[in-house]
Amino acid sequence: MDAIFILTGAGISAESGLGTFRDKDGLWTRYDLRRVATPEGFRADPALVHDFYNMRRQNCLEASPNAAHQALARLQRDYPGEVTLVTQNVDDLHERAGAAEVIHMHGELLRALCAACGHRWPAPARMLPEDRCPACDRAATRPDIVWFGEVPYRMDEIVERLARARLFAVIGSSGEVYPAAGFVEEAVSQGARTVEINLEPCGRGNLFGSGLYGPASAVVPSWVEGLLGG
Ligand code: APR
Repeated sequence: MDAIFILTGAGISAESGLGTFRDKDGLWTRYDLRRVATPEGFRADPALVHDFYNMRRQNCLEASPNAAHQALARLQRDYPGEVTLVTQNVDDLHERAGAAEVIHMHGELLRALCAACGHRWPAPARMLPEDRCPACDRAATRPDIVWFGEVPYRMDEIVERLARARLFAVIGSSGEVYPAAGFVEEAVSQGARTVEINLEPCGRGNLFGSGLYGPASAVVPSWVEGLLGG
């Protein structure tokens, strides 16, 4: 059975109210990413960065998965072959929709990380610069988020699974940020079928063998239905 590799981006959570980064009034039109999403920004003003992720964590807790998240969980459950679900998103909506194995290559809002000892634990609703690590007791906690300039998580596993994929799909991503943006070229180079699923062609559509356009909550369930032969 053909292995399927799916990469999701902020667009899949847009209809759950979490917004995106680069659409009009997206997060990066309202916040300076250098100040809130880089190690340098965190060093310069940890309180500002914690406030930014505390706000996003609150929004995440108040949001609900939409039909697109639920359809991907159904695909993972019912498809007889391997389904790899990699997300650039840091929300937990895939998990709350029932997805079993989600690879968060950019980290997770609901986890905290100790910059001193590497310990990870469930993030409290509000993180503060003076919080102490539950393992080493040093005041070196940070959101478990991969910032610009840092290395995405689980890349070895991602590359290995991508190499096996016979069908590659990107859902709700502008394809602006590497290494995720480069996955499609890798998939094409090894002969996988590729599909871009987005509100509209995101300017790199020519890299994909096919495209499905419209709101993810409408397009993804019908795409999954087709894959399951429904
Ligand atoms: N349905 C499907 N796609 C949508 C919807 C929707 N309802 N709404 C928006 N989109 C699409 C947009 O057309 C756009 O192509 O989602 C995409 C969002 O793009 P970005 O805002 O750039 O988000 P993303 O691609 O996930 O960003 C990648 O950049 O800032 C970093 O770490 C951050 O993980 C993020 C990475």
